Order: sequence, then C-alpha cells, then structure tokens
Amino acid sequence: MSSPVPDTIRPIRFDDGRLHLLDQRLLPSESRENGYEDPASVADAIRDMVVRGAPAIGITAAFGVVLACDRARDRNTAPWRPSVEAAIDRLAASRPTAVNLFWALDRMRAVLAGCGSVAEACAATLAEAQAMLQADIAANRRMGAIGAALIDPGRAVLTHCNTGSLATGGFGTALGVIRASWAEDRITEVFADETRPWLQGSRLTAWELLRDGIPVQLLCEGAAASLLRSGRVGWVVVGADRIAANGDTANKIGTYGLALLARAHGAGLMVVAPLSTIDFEIADGSAIPIEMRAEAEVLGLGGQRVAAPGARAWNPAFDVTPADLIDVIVTEQGAVHRPDREGLAALRGLVDR
Ligand code: MRU
Repeated sequence: MSSPVPDTIRPIRFDDGRLHLLDQRLLPSESRENGYEDPASVADAIRDMVVRGAPAIGITAAFGVVLACDRARDRNTAPWRPSVEAAIDRLAASRPTAVNLFWALDRMRAVLAGCGSVAEACAATLAEAQAMLQADIAANRRMGAIGAALIDPGRAVLTHCNTGSLATGGFGTALGVIRASWAEDRITEVFADETRPWLQGSRLTAWELLRDGIPVQLLCEGAAASLLRSGRVGWVVVGADRIAANGDTANKIGTYGLALLARAHGAGLMVVAPLSTIDFEIADGSAIPIEMRAEAEVLGLGGQRVAAPGARAWNPAFDVTPADLIDVIVTEQGAVHRPDREGLAALRGLVDR
C-alpha cells in the first residue's frame, strides 16, 4: 500500500507586496528567507543562486515583474511601461541556460500588453505569477505520478543536482518522481550525486529528502560508474534546464557523463521536466547557451581555496545530453519514450503559452 507523498518545502512565496526566497546558498546549515521589494535585487538573487533550478528561476522572475509594476505605481513613474520593461530585461540577463526564465518573462509581457494602467498591471501580473506557481506544483505532482508508474519496483534510483521542491514551486520534477516512487514502495534506495562544484546534491537534495523522511546516500560523481556497474540502479532520474526540439537536453554539468554510464550499464535515463522547459525554437542541443560560472566555485570549497595556488578552472554549469541517450522524457502532459523531434512535436499543441 502506498503512503502519502512527503512534501513540506516551499522556497518561493509572495506576501504583502514582498517576495520571500529561501536562501539556498546557506542550506543546510541555515534555513533563512530573504525578502525582496525591488526587481533588480531579484535579478541579483537569481544570478547569485539564492534561488536556482529552472522552474524556480522562472517563477521568481515572474514575481520580479510584479515588483517592477508595484514600484512604478508607488513611485508614480510616468510613463510606467519603460521601467517595467527595463526590469524585465535585467531579469532576463540573470542566467542564460534555463529556458523557463524566458518563458515566464514572455508570459508576463503578454499579460502586460493587455493592461491599460499600472494599477491593472499590478493586479494582473500578481494573478499570473501566483497562477504560475500553483500550476508548477500541480504539474510536478502529475509528473511524479507519470514517472513513478514507469519504475518497476525493487531497484535503486540515482539522481543528480537538485530537482526538488527547492528547484521548483514545490514537490520537484525528477525528485518529485522519486518522492512518488518512494511513497509507492517502488524504489529500494535513493542515491544522489554530491554535484560538484556547487554541491546541490549534498547540500540541497539530501536536506530536502531527509526533511521529508526519505533516506538518501550521497556519492561523488566519480563513484557513479561503479554504482551503475553494480546493477543496483534501475533508473537515473534527472531534471532539465532546456530541452531542444529534438530532445537534446541541457542539465547540470555531469548529466551527460551519467547518461553515457547509464547506457553502458543497462540503466534507464529518465528526464523529468515541465513543458515550459522545452524550447521548440531550438532545433538541437548545439544552440543551447551554456552558462560559464566563476572559477572560484571549482578552486575552493565553502569559500576556502583548496586548489594549488596558480591553478585555473574551467566551470561550465551545464552540459547537453544527446536525445539518443535518453530513454524517456516525462512531462505533465505525458511521457515521450525514445524522444525525438516528432515525439516532442506532439506535445507542442499542449504547451500553455
Ligand atoms: O545551477 P542550478 O542549480 O540552477 O542547476 C539546476 C539544474 O541543473 C536542475 O537539474 C534543473 O534546473 C532542473 S530543476 C527542476
């Protein structure tokens, strides 16, 4: 018999004209919410990874647009549109890879286009951002059920980065599938890569799984080959930052290596992402912009330099897994097995744009 799906964390909330973000740079040692009232500091929060994960970035940016409208109203900025458009441009420049950011800002632009006054814009953007947040959680729950149904009971799963409540409005994408599978007793063990260099796995995924009562074993990415070779893992379950029209998938650096290992050792690779992560404008993964991050993230640990003095670092935040290494892409509208251009195109008509 399955138990209720554990799910207690909500990283983004908007109350009384303020956006509150759980500061993911501090977890797991400190659980602190920061408050935001201006859109420029929201853009900085996305860039600095106070909030991260593709869907969470998009929802946060949407609330950033709400704050831009509120400021224009409170400061009596006339005309009000240029300041809101400038805020949208700044939010769009915060991080380049996750397409959910641009998807969310496009939705806000469409809402603004229909508004005749700043008061109307404040109300309409707030309603849209709140709807986006609630729809994300609902989509994650649907993906959890669809993905869990594909997992035959009795084996372990391995995940990478953090794709949970912290990376979304709540519940999570790949981690949502893992939550649902755990509740249905489908999986025996959960393994999570520590996910160098930012340690989303050991700091965030482990924190949120344990808070919700799901045991987890961490491993260095270098241990994944041995784990997969042992045959304990049935599925590698990951999220996505941007899926091209042919199914090529950008996700946290290291995902491509895991995909090769999964294929070599007979484990399945499941990518779990909402339709807002599919970029139908990009033909294949070669056109996905890959964010390069600071060398210091690789050269140090916890703010302390560990690399030999003088060493430089190469630090791409994401890599692209070719579609032919992916067994299934799970979306809230259903699963696409052996994804390709035709399989994904069938979903296109269902995209809420
Ligand atoms: O750099 P991050 O932490 O924002 O990267 C996050 C990931 O790569 C996630 O796997 C992806 O955004 C999906 S989150 C549901």
